Amino acid sequence: MAEEQTERENGGGVATAKETLSVTDNRTGESYEVEIEDGTVKAMDFRQIKVSEDDFGLMTYDPAFTNTASVRSAVCYIDGEAGVLEYRGYPIEELCERSSYLEVAYLLIYGELPTREQLDEWIFEITHHTFVHENIKKFVEGFRYDAHPMGMLLATTGALSTFYPDAKKIDDQMERHMAAVRLIAKVPTLAAFAYRHNLGLPYVYPDNELSYPGNFLSMMFKMTEAQYEPDPRLERALDVLWILHADHEQNCSTNAVRGVGSSEVDPYSAVAAGVAALYGPLHGGANEAVLRMLERIETAENIPDFLERVKSRDEKLMGFGHRVYKNYDPRANIIKKHVDEVFEVTGRNPKLDIAVELEKRALDDDYFIDRKLYPNVDFYSGLIYEALNLPPDMFTVMFAIPRTSGWIAQWLEMVTDPETKIARPRQIYTGSREQSYVPIEKREKKSEKPRAETNLIDPARNKAAKSG
Ligand code: CMC
Repeated sequence: MAEEQTERENGGGVATAKETLSVTDNRTGESYEVEIEDGTVKAMDFRQIKVSEDDFGLMTYDPAFTNTASVRSAVCYIDGEAGVLEYRGYPIEELCERSSYLEVAYLLIYGELPTREQLDEWIFEITHHTFVHENIKKFVEGFRYDAHPMGMLLATTGALSTFYPDAKKIDDQMERHMAAVRLIAKVPTLAAFAYRHNLGLPYVYPDNELSYPGNFLSMMFKMTEAQYEPDPRLERALDVLWILHADHEQNCSTNAVRGVGSSEVDPYSAVAAGVAALYGPLHGGANEAVLRMLERIETAENIPDFLERVKSRDEKLMGFGHRVYKNYDPRANIIKKHVDEVFEVTGRNPKLDIAVELEKRALDDDYFIDRKLYPNVDFYSGLIYEALNLPPDMFTVMFAIPRTSGWIAQWLEMVTDPETKIARPRQIYTGSREQSYVPIEKREKKSEKPRAETNLIDPARNKAAKSG
């Protein structure tokens, strides 16, 4: 058991503070002592607590991991109460002010800010891996014209693993590095292809002369001009947005990347799992949902009615609330500052007035105050994306592009962590046991499965058709 001597200032004496937890099992009267390390107890230490020799032992139950640390990580720090976010110890505000997205990607992945030489080499590598295999184009063409771009990004990211089969050698440091470079380089290309596919426009190949965000804007919006010239203000705004979205410790999609990656699958497949998780409206899909919500609210006069519907749980105030932040999400603060800069170039988005008024009224309302619900990163980002002329379907893709570097940083940390094992939670079984198999002719109907109104496959009709 860990024991620590701490000097107490009151009275100057030395008191012994044991870093342990004593637990008494009232079923048996037995007492146990478990170690406390870094403010946590190990769930496995509870397994020794049994009512009998053949008892499996006590487990912990924590659906949604609301109070369970599943990893030790040095990538990203959040203090949710204080509204603090740091990447590798650097405050997000300073990185947004002074750094670039690719420099931040390097920091997340390799743990230190690069020297000038290291950064130049990194940018060169990323820039020279932005092309995708021509077959990917054919693959994207196979999607319906109105396929959701996140669905396309999910499929194409996973498909990259078939083009780089050596990526499955996850013990090989060079292969891991190449997967990191390829993913960061190619995800924007896949995203832009998905966008152009929806519009029926020809795909635009990457332009190595442009910056990382400038090249993305070119692949999205270039038409007949010989070379696309991105507006430097938009380039910078996009870069800042991407820094903000790059990582956020053990969120739903990062947990998916780590969970899937723990099976030792290749990193492209693990990152595809992250894209899938991000797609959901409670996660990255929230920015799209915010825009739809602002469209439904329509005018500022409708805000009070809307908030009443939220409070009676007929609606959710999308872009508000967070599992970790119980204060203003620092990312929302930074985005809000950049909104005006973008609107200077693109013209003002009238939905901004509704959003600002909605935020103000919600922050004045006891329902939101009591539950510590504040705007999160998704509340204002959609307004910028819309001003950039992006359809709401693309908003979550805009989140996935920068989150790729965070997913890779977390995946690399996981594969090199000696404590990593395949993720495999336990369950509390609630089903029946020891049922006897009943022959089909003796069974009684106990439940109804959902039935489609138009049943395309009608066995009775098929049988009649065959016999007639
Ligand atoms: N609107 C109305 N009520 C809310 C909201 C909201 N946006 N968020 C939380 N609540 C209520 C919730 O109903 C609950 O009330 P009660 O205790 O009376 O039942 C209370 O606040 C606590 O919420 P919770 O659902 O237990 O919190 P959680 O940590 O499980 O969920 C969340 C966090 C982000 C999923 C949730 O706040 C939410 O659904 N927000 C809207 C979707 C959204 O904006 N998601 C983006 C998150 S930030 C970007 C990212 O990481 O992807």
